[in-house]
Amino acid sequence: MKRILTGITPSGYPHLGNYIGAIKPSLDLLDEKCESFLFIADLHAVIKVSDPNKLEELSTAIAMAWLASGLDPNTTSFYRQSDVPEITELAWLLSCITEKGLLNRAHAYKAAVDQNNESGKKEMDEGISLGLFSYPLLMASDILTPNATHVPVGKDQQQHLEITRDIAEKFNSRYGKFFNVPEAVIQNEKTVLGTDGRKMSKSYNNIIPLLSNEKELRKSVMKIVTNSQEPGEKKEWKDNTLFAIYSSFASVEKQENMKNLFEDGIGWGDAKQKVFEDLNQMLLPIREKFMELSNNKKFIEEILKSGAEKVRLQTVPALKEVKKLVGISRL
Ligand code: ADP
Ligand code: TRP
Repeated sequence: MKRILTGITPSGYPHLGNYIGAIKPSLDLLDEKCESFLFIADLHAVIKVSDPNKLEELSTAIAMAWLASGLDPNTTSFYRQSDVPEITELAWLLSCITEKGLLNRAHAYKAAVDQNNESGKKEMDEGISLGLFSYPLLMASDILTPNATHVPVGKDQQQHLEITRDIAEKFNSRYGKFFNVPEAVIQNEKTVLGTDGRKMSKSYNNIIPLLSNEKELRKSVMKIVTNSQEPGEKKEWKDNTLFAIYSSFASVEKQENMKNLFEDGIGWGDAKQKVFEDLNQMLLPIREKFMELSNNKKFIEEILKSGAEKVRLQTVPALKEVKKLVGISRL
Protein backbone atom coordinates (compact mmCIF):
# COMPACT_ATOMS: atom_id res chain seq x y z
CA MET A 1 0.00 0.00 0.00
CA LYS A 2 1.22 3.50 -0.86
CA ARG A 3 2.14 5.63 2.13
CA ILE A 4 1.92 9.26 1.12
CA LEU A 5 3.52 11.88 3.32
CA THR A 6 4.20 15.58 3.08
CA GLY A 7 4.79 18.57 5.34
CA ILE A 8 4.67 22.33 5.17
CA THR A 9 6.93 24.52 7.28
CA PRO A 10 5.00 27.24 9.14
CA SER A 11 7.52 29.96 8.44
CA GLY A 12 5.06 32.27 6.66
CA TYR A 13 1.39 32.78 5.91
CA PRO A 14 0.04 30.24 3.44
CA HIS A 15 -0.21 31.64 -0.08
CA LEU A 16 -1.61 30.79 -3.49
CA GLY A 17 1.74 29.23 -4.51
CA ASN A 18 1.58 26.82 -1.55
CA TYR A 19 -2.00 25.90 -2.46
CA ILE A 20 -1.39 25.33 -6.18
CA GLY A 21 2.10 23.83 -5.76
CA ALA A 22 1.71 21.73 -2.63
CA ILE A 23 -1.65 21.59 -0.84
CA LYS A 24 -4.00 20.89 -3.75
CA PRO A 25 -1.79 18.33 -5.56
CA SER A 26 -1.18 16.49 -2.29
CA LEU A 27 -4.88 16.29 -1.49
CA ASP A 28 -5.69 15.26 -5.08
CA LEU A 29 -3.24 12.39 -4.76
CA LEU A 30 -5.01 10.78 -1.83
CA ASP A 31 -7.52 8.01 -2.37
CA GLU A 32 -8.94 5.16 -0.37
CA LYS A 33 -6.15 2.87 -1.54
CA CYS A 34 -3.39 4.78 0.25
CA GLU A 35 -2.38 5.69 3.77
CA SER A 36 -1.65 9.36 4.18
CA PHE A 37 0.39 11.49 6.54
CA LEU A 38 0.26 15.27 6.34
CA PHE A 39 1.98 17.38 8.92
CA ILE A 40 3.00 20.81 10.08
CA ALA A 41 6.78 21.00 10.18
CA ASP A 42 6.95 23.29 13.22
CA LEU A 43 10.39 22.08 14.38
CA HIS A 44 11.77 23.07 10.99
CA ALA A 45 10.22 26.51 11.39
CA VAL A 46 12.24 27.28 14.54
CA ILE A 47 15.23 27.69 12.21
CA LYS A 48 13.58 30.69 10.58
CA VAL A 49 11.03 32.09 13.02
CA SER A 50 12.49 33.55 16.20
CA ASP A 51 9.33 35.15 17.59
CA PRO A 52 7.45 32.49 19.65
CA ASN A 53 4.03 34.13 19.24
CA LYS A 54 4.53 34.32 15.52
CA LEU A 55 5.49 30.67 15.31
CA GLU A 56 2.34 29.66 17.13
CA GLU A 57 0.20 31.86 14.90
CA LEU A 58 1.80 30.53 11.73
CA SER A 59 1.42 26.89 12.81
CA THR A 60 -2.29 27.50 13.34
CA ALA A 61 -2.55 29.26 9.96
CA ILE A 62 -0.96 26.30 8.16
CA ALA A 63 -3.28 23.88 9.98
CA MET A 64 -6.26 25.97 8.88
CA ALA A 65 -4.96 26.13 5.31
CA TRP A 66 -4.88 22.33 5.05
CA LEU A 67 -8.24 21.81 6.71
CA ALA A 68 -9.96 24.62 4.80
CA SER A 69 -8.56 23.22 1.54
CA GLY A 70 -10.35 19.94 2.16
CA LEU A 71 -8.04 17.71 4.20
CA ASP A 72 -10.16 15.05 5.89
CA PRO A 73 -8.67 14.26 9.32
CA ASN A 74 -10.70 11.04 9.50
CA THR A 75 -8.87 9.47 6.60
CA THR A 76 -5.48 11.19 6.93
CA SER A 77 -3.09 11.36 9.86
CA PHE A 78 -2.78 15.11 10.27
CA TYR A 79 -0.33 16.16 12.96
CA ARG A 80 2.29 18.55 14.25
CA GLN A 81 5.86 17.31 13.88
CA SER A 82 6.64 18.37 17.45
CA ASP A 83 3.92 16.05 18.81
CA VAL A 84 5.77 13.02 17.47
CA PRO A 85 9.02 12.73 19.47
CA GLU A 86 10.09 9.61 17.55
CA ILE A 87 10.96 11.92 14.64
CA THR A 88 13.70 13.76 16.53
CA GLU A 89 14.89 10.56 18.15
CA LEU A 90 15.30 8.87 14.79
CA ALA A 91 16.99 12.02 13.45
CA TRP A 92 19.82 11.48 15.93
CA LEU A 93 20.24 7.84 14.99
CA LEU A 94 20.26 8.78 11.31
CA SER A 95 22.83 11.50 11.95
CA CYS A 96 25.19 8.82 13.24
CA ILE A 97 25.24 7.07 9.88
CA THR A 98 25.09 10.16 7.66
CA GLU A 99 28.27 11.66 6.26
CA LYS A 100 28.61 15.37 6.85
CA GLY A 101 29.59 15.79 3.19
CA LEU A 102 26.10 14.77 2.11
CA LEU A 103 24.67 17.76 3.94
CA ASN A 104 27.49 20.10 2.81
CA ARG A 105 26.02 19.76 -0.67
CA ALA A 106 22.44 20.70 0.29
CA HIS A 107 21.14 23.79 -1.58
CA ALA A 108 19.98 25.84 1.41
CA TYR A 109 23.28 25.45 3.23
CA LYS A 110 25.31 26.13 0.10
CA ALA A 111 23.26 29.26 -0.60
CA ALA A 112 23.92 30.53 2.93
CA VAL A 113 27.67 29.91 2.55
CA ASP A 114 27.70 31.62 -0.87
CA GLN A 115 25.99 34.61 0.65
CA ASN A 116 28.65 34.82 3.37
CA ASN A 117 31.43 34.58 0.81
CA GLU A 118 29.84 37.21 -1.42
CA SER A 119 29.41 39.64 1.42
CA GLY A 120 33.08 39.20 2.34
CA LYS A 121 32.55 37.48 5.70
CA LYS A 122 35.76 35.98 7.08
CA GLU A 123 34.12 32.83 8.35
CA MET A 124 32.10 30.98 5.70
CA ASP A 125 29.75 29.47 8.30
CA GLU A 126 29.07 32.73 10.13
CA GLY A 127 25.47 32.98 11.30
CA ILE A 128 24.51 29.55 9.93
CA SER A 129 22.81 27.46 12.60
CA LEU A 130 23.33 23.73 12.99
CA GLY A 131 19.55 23.51 12.52
CA LEU A 132 19.80 24.99 9.04
CA PHE A 133 22.74 22.73 8.21
CA SER A 134 21.01 19.56 9.34
CA TYR A 135 17.54 20.50 8.02
CA PRO A 136 17.64 17.78 5.32
CA LEU A 137 18.44 15.19 7.98
CA LEU A 138 15.39 16.10 10.05
CA MET A 139 13.35 16.05 6.87
CA ALA A 140 14.65 12.55 6.12
CA SER A 141 13.51 11.55 9.57
CA ASP A 142 10.05 13.10 8.99
CA ILE A 143 9.70 10.83 6.00
CA LEU A 144 11.32 7.67 7.34
CA THR A 145 9.73 7.58 10.81
CA PRO A 146 6.28 6.65 9.41
CA ASN A 147 8.09 4.78 6.60
CA ALA A 148 6.53 6.73 3.72
CA THR A 149 6.76 5.48 0.14
CA HIS A 150 5.68 8.60 -1.79
CA VAL A 151 6.35 12.24 -0.99
CA PRO A 152 4.52 14.95 -2.96
CA VAL A 153 6.68 18.07 -2.99
CA GLY A 154 7.58 21.05 -5.13
CA LYS A 155 10.60 20.80 -7.43
CA ASP A 156 12.70 22.77 -4.95
CA GLN A 157 12.52 19.83 -2.53
CA GLN A 158 13.82 17.20 -4.94
CA GLN A 159 17.35 17.32 -3.56
CA HIS A 160 16.05 16.72 -0.03
CA LEU A 161 14.32 13.59 -1.26
CA GLU A 162 17.55 12.37 -2.85
CA ILE A 163 19.31 12.89 0.47
CA THR A 164 16.52 10.96 2.21
CA ARG A 165 16.89 8.07 -0.21
CA ASP A 166 20.66 7.99 0.38
CA ILE A 167 20.15 7.87 4.13
CA ALA A 168 17.48 5.13 3.91
CA GLU A 169 19.73 3.01 1.70
CA LYS A 170 22.70 3.50 4.00
CA PHE A 171 20.65 2.38 7.01
CA ASN A 172 19.22 -0.61 5.14
CA SER A 173 22.61 -1.75 3.93
CA ARG A 174 24.11 -1.52 7.38
CA TYR A 175 21.30 -2.99 9.47
CA GLY A 176 19.11 -4.91 7.00
CA LYS A 177 16.15 -3.66 5.01
CA PHE A 178 13.87 -1.66 7.24
CA PHE A 179 13.03 1.63 5.55
CA ASN A 180 11.19 2.11 2.28
CA VAL A 181 13.30 4.14 -0.12
CA PRO A 182 10.78 6.91 -0.78
CA GLU A 183 10.01 8.54 -4.09
CA ALA A 184 9.40 12.23 -4.69
CA VAL A 185 6.13 12.91 -6.48
CA ILE A 186 6.47 16.17 -8.37
CA GLN A 187 3.11 16.87 -9.94
CA ASN A 188 3.34 20.53 -10.54
CA GLU A 189 6.43 21.69 -12.34
CA LYS A 190 4.93 25.14 -12.70
CA THR A 191 5.96 27.88 -10.33
CA VAL A 192 3.26 30.34 -9.33
CA LEU A 193 4.52 33.89 -9.75
CA GLY A 194 4.15 36.54 -7.07
CA THR A 195 2.80 40.07 -7.42
CA ASP A 196 6.25 41.41 -8.38
CA GLY A 197 6.84 38.80 -11.10
CA ARG A 198 9.33 36.68 -9.13
CA LYS A 199 8.42 33.26 -7.67
CA MET A 200 5.61 33.74 -5.16
CA SER A 201 7.32 33.27 -1.81
CA LYS A 202 6.88 34.45 1.74
CA SER A 203 10.57 35.46 1.60
CA TYR A 204 9.87 38.04 -1.13
CA ASN A 205 6.81 39.69 0.38
CA ASN A 206 4.98 39.22 -2.90
CA ILE A 207 2.28 36.76 -1.94
CA ILE A 208 -1.41 36.45 -2.67
CA PRO A 209 -2.72 35.06 0.63
CA LEU A 210 -4.73 31.87 0.65
CA LEU A 211 -6.64 32.76 3.80
CA SER A 212 -7.87 36.31 3.63
CA ASN A 213 -11.03 38.31 3.35
CA GLU A 214 -12.26 39.65 0.03
CA LYS A 215 -10.83 43.11 0.62
CA GLU A 216 -7.32 41.85 1.33
CA LEU A 217 -7.45 39.48 -1.62
CA ARG A 218 -8.49 42.30 -3.94
CA LYS A 219 -5.72 44.50 -2.60
CA SER A 220 -3.05 41.90 -3.29
CA VAL A 221 -4.35 41.26 -6.84
CA MET A 222 -4.30 45.01 -7.53
CA LYS A 223 -0.60 45.01 -6.56
CA ILE A 224 0.38 42.69 -9.43
CA VAL A 225 2.93 44.47 -11.62
CA THR A 226 1.89 45.54 -15.10
CA ASN A 227 3.28 48.11 -17.53
CA SER A 228 2.26 51.59 -18.59
CA GLN A 229 0.08 50.53 -21.52
CA GLU A 230 -3.25 52.34 -21.73
CA PRO A 231 -6.71 50.78 -22.10
CA GLY A 232 -7.40 50.13 -25.79
CA GLU A 233 -3.78 49.13 -26.51
CA LYS A 234 -3.25 45.49 -27.42
CA LYS A 235 -1.51 43.66 -24.56
CA GLU A 236 0.94 40.76 -24.76
CA TRP A 237 -0.13 37.83 -22.57
CA LYS A 238 3.14 35.95 -22.95
CA ASP A 239 5.62 36.77 -20.16
CA ASN A 240 2.98 38.85 -18.45
CA THR A 241 2.83 38.42 -14.68
CA LEU A 242 -0.92 39.02 -14.39
CA PHE A 243 -1.65 36.43 -17.06
CA ALA A 244 0.89 33.99 -15.60
CA ILE A 245 -0.79 34.20 -12.19
CA TYR A 246 -4.21 33.81 -13.79
CA SER A 247 -3.08 30.75 -15.76
CA SER A 248 -1.94 29.03 -12.57
CA PHE A 249 -5.53 28.61 -11.39
CA ALA A 250 -7.98 29.42 -14.24
CA SER A 251 -9.40 26.79 -16.62
CA VAL A 252 -8.05 26.62 -20.18
CA GLU A 253 -11.32 28.10 -21.42
CA LYS A 254 -11.06 31.08 -19.09
CA GLN A 255 -7.44 31.57 -20.08
CA GLU A 256 -8.42 31.68 -23.76
CA ASN A 257 -11.04 34.25 -22.94
CA MET A 258 -8.47 36.35 -21.09
CA LYS A 259 -6.05 36.11 -24.03
CA ASN A 260 -8.78 37.56 -26.25
CA LEU A 261 -9.41 40.38 -23.81
CA PHE A 262 -5.66 41.15 -23.83
CA GLU A 263 -5.71 41.23 -27.65
CA ASP A 264 -8.71 43.57 -27.53
CA GLY A 265 -6.84 45.96 -25.27
CA ILE A 266 -8.54 45.48 -21.91
CA GLY A 267 -7.29 48.04 -19.35
CA TRP A 268 -5.04 46.71 -16.56
CA GLY A 269 -7.55 47.73 -13.89
CA ASP A 270 -10.35 45.78 -15.58
CA ALA A 271 -8.11 42.78 -16.20
CA LYS A 272 -7.09 42.72 -12.53
CA GLN A 273 -10.72 42.98 -11.49
CA LYS A 274 -11.48 39.90 -13.60
CA VAL A 275 -8.54 37.98 -12.12
CA PHE A 276 -9.72 38.96 -8.66
CA GLU A 277 -13.31 37.84 -9.33
CA ASP A 278 -12.30 34.42 -10.64
CA LEU A 279 -9.75 33.89 -7.87
CA ASN A 280 -12.27 35.00 -5.29
CA GLN A 281 -14.76 32.52 -6.70
CA MET A 282 -12.22 29.70 -6.43
CA LEU A 283 -11.21 30.63 -2.89
CA LEU A 284 -14.75 31.16 -1.61
CA PRO A 285 -15.31 27.65 -0.19
CA ILE A 286 -11.81 27.70 1.35
CA ARG A 287 -12.54 31.08 2.95
CA GLU A 288 -15.87 29.91 4.37
CA LYS A 289 -14.25 26.90 5.99
CA PHE A 290 -11.38 29.07 7.22
CA MET A 291 -13.78 31.51 8.91
CA GLU A 292 -15.52 28.60 10.59
CA LEU A 293 -12.21 27.19 11.82
CA SER A 294 -10.93 30.59 13.02
CA ASN A 295 -13.67 30.57 15.63
CA ASN A 296 -12.91 27.06 16.70
CA LYS A 297 -9.22 26.73 17.55
CA LYS A 298 -9.98 24.08 20.15
CA PHE A 299 -11.37 21.86 17.43
CA ILE A 300 -8.13 22.26 15.43
CA GLU A 301 -6.10 21.38 18.52
CA GLU A 302 -8.16 18.22 19.01
CA ILE A 303 -7.68 17.19 15.39
CA LEU A 304 -3.91 17.66 15.64
CA LYS A 305 -3.68 15.79 18.93
CA SER A 306 -5.64 12.83 17.68
CA GLY A 307 -3.62 12.90 14.43
CA ALA A 308 -0.44 12.60 16.48
CA GLU A 309 -1.91 9.71 18.46
CA LYS A 310 -2.80 8.00 15.19
CA VAL A 311 0.64 8.36 13.63
CA ARG A 312 2.34 7.32 16.87
CA LEU A 313 0.63 3.95 16.62
CA GLN A 314 3.13 3.44 13.82
CA THR A 315 6.12 5.51 14.91
CA VAL A 316 6.47 4.19 18.48
CA PRO A 317 6.83 0.53 17.42
CA ALA A 318 8.98 1.59 14.44
CA LEU A 319 11.43 3.37 16.72
CA LYS A 320 11.58 0.38 19.03
CA GLU A 321 12.46 -1.80 16.08
CA VAL A 322 15.09 0.64 14.79
CA LYS A 323 16.73 0.80 18.20
CA LYS A 324 16.83 -2.97 18.36
CA LEU A 325 18.46 -3.05 14.93
CA VAL A 326 21.19 -0.61 15.97
CA GLY A 327 21.80 -2.45 19.23
CA ILE A 328 19.95 -0.30 21.74
CA SER A 329 17.54 -2.52 23.63
CA ARG A 330 16.54 -3.27 27.20
CA LEU A 331 17.88 -6.35 29.00
P1 ADP B 1 7.96 29.71 0.36
O1 ADP B 1 8.69 29.75 -0.95
O2 ADP B 1 6.88 30.72 0.44
O3 ADP B 1 8.94 29.78 1.53
P2 ADP B 1 7.75 26.95 1.11
O4 ADP B 1 9.19 26.73 0.75
O5 ADP B 1 7.37 26.90 2.55
O6 ADP B 1 7.25 28.30 0.44
O7 ADP B 1 6.89 25.90 0.31
C1 ADP B 1 5.91 25.04 0.80
C2 ADP B 1 5.42 24.20 -0.37
O8 ADP B 1 4.76 25.03 -1.34
C3 ADP B 1 6.55 23.48 -1.13
O9 ADP B 1 6.11 22.19 -1.55
C4 ADP B 1 6.79 24.36 -2.34
O10 ADP B 1 7.31 23.66 -3.45
C5 ADP B 1 5.40 24.92 -2.62
N1 ADP B 1 5.51 26.27 -3.20
C6 ADP B 1 5.97 27.38 -2.55
N2 ADP B 1 5.95 28.46 -3.36
C7 ADP B 1 5.47 28.03 -4.54
C8 ADP B 1 5.21 28.68 -5.80
N3 ADP B 1 5.43 29.98 -5.97
N4 ADP B 1 4.72 27.93 -6.81
C9 ADP B 1 4.48 26.60 -6.64
N5 ADP B 1 4.71 25.93 -5.49
C10 ADP B 1 5.19 26.62 -4.45
N1 TRP C 1 11.07 21.10 3.49
C1 TRP C 1 9.70 21.24 3.09
C2 TRP C 1 9.47 22.66 2.56
O1 TRP C 1 10.16 23.58 2.92
C3 TRP C 1 8.76 20.98 4.25
C4 TRP C 1 8.97 19.62 4.81
C5 TRP C 1 9.55 19.31 6.00
C6 TRP C 1 8.64 18.39 4.17
N2 TRP C 1 9.59 17.95 6.18
C7 TRP C 1 9.05 17.36 5.09
C8 TRP C 1 8.04 18.07 2.96
C9 TRP C 1 8.88 16.01 4.77
C10 TRP C 1 7.89 16.70 2.65
C11 TRP C 1 8.30 15.69 3.55
O2 TRP C 1 8.57 22.85 1.76
